[in-house]
Amino acid sequence: MKLSSFLHFAGFGIKTVLFRKKEPILGTVIVTDKCNLKCKHCSVNNITAVVHPYEQIRREMQQLYDMGIRILFFCGGETFLWRDGERTLRDLVVEAKEMGFLIVNVVTNGTFPIDLPEADLILLSLDGDRERHNAVRGDTYDTIMENIKHATSDNICFYMAINQINKDAVEHVCLTARDTKNVRAVSFNFHTPYPDTRELALSREEKTHCCDVITRMMKAGAPVFNLRSAFPYLINNSFPTPCHQCVVIENGKVSTCGRCIDVPNLCDECGYFFVAEYTLLFKGNPKIILEMLTTYLRYI
Ligand SMILES: C[S@@+](CC[C@H](N)C(=O)[O-])C[C@H]1O[C@@H](n2cnc3c(N)ncnc32)[C@H](O)[C@@H]1O
Ligand code: SF4
Ligand code: SF4
Repeated sequence: MKLSSFLHFAGFGIKTVLFRKKEPILGTVIVTDKCNLKCKHCSVNNITAVVHPYEQIRREMQQLYDMGIRILFFCGGETFLWRDGERTLRDLVVEAKEMGFLIVNVVTNGTFPIDLPEADLILLSLDGDRERHNAVRGDTYDTIMENIKHATSDNICFYMAINQINKDAVEHVCLTARDTKNVRAVSFNFHTPYPDTRELALSREEKTHCCDVITRMMKAGAPVFNLRSAFPYLINNSFPTPCHQCVVIENGKVSTCGRCIDVPNLCDECGYFFVAEYTLLFKGNPKIILEMLTTYLRYI
């Protein structure tokens, strides 16, 4: 991370903690909800299947920038399906950087060739070893691994949503992150139980076990892009929600934290690690602040 970006985030953090401000710093643009997969745990694919036009996405990026947001995510649906004429996802990433966003990340299912060197991180969903990943995501594991091998940059971070199907594959994914070329780290979430996927949620005991495995892997040197100090809060769902420093924009609609904010009572069972990490950070939790500094400087 550049020193100027670090100083910007440090200044934002100090102001937010000291004055209990609620201004956002992290924003997500949903470029489309269209997707080539139909994963078992996902409730947000192909609801409209509209690919939003370039001019609209550009306006939304500018709107987020004007709100003070400096960390931008592109998400979907499948982000690599986005195009408008000659323009592709890569053009959106380059444009976001030119607009002044300090960190620009993309979330993808990894089933398309990966040529996004300008992104700070490509969060690529890997949901287990071949067997369990394919049980969640269809027969995609080998294609993804091939795409990673041929990626044009080493900015990939695995993104695993832990659920009833893949809960025993956490160690495997940590080791795969450590041993795969072009992969920098792995970042985890627990399944967030939307009404149509409640059966995939983990119990408190299962979350405890997963966090123990992740902790052991971190101690053994596996590259995990999460904060250990947030684990007790994630296990007990005792972190504050929603995250006021995060917003998402989808087809012109801005929501605080996630597009899931409208699902009744879902925040009480939120499994997204970033929500725990950011809300605890901006409450001024000293352990989280320290761990966030070292972790972000290591992987971005
Ligand atoms: C909705 S997908 C969109 C981007 C891309 N299609 C992909 O799969 O990475 C973004 C991330 O959300 C995760 N996800 C989907 N439903 C979830 C849920 N109910 N709880 C936790 N994570 C979930 C996916 O596994 C994926 O890593
Ligand atoms: S690839 Fe992503 S958007 Fe598509 S179904 Fe799977 S999790 Fe949902
Ligand atoms: S806190 Fe609520 S709105 Fe935010 S990601 Fe979790 S479930 Fe969604």
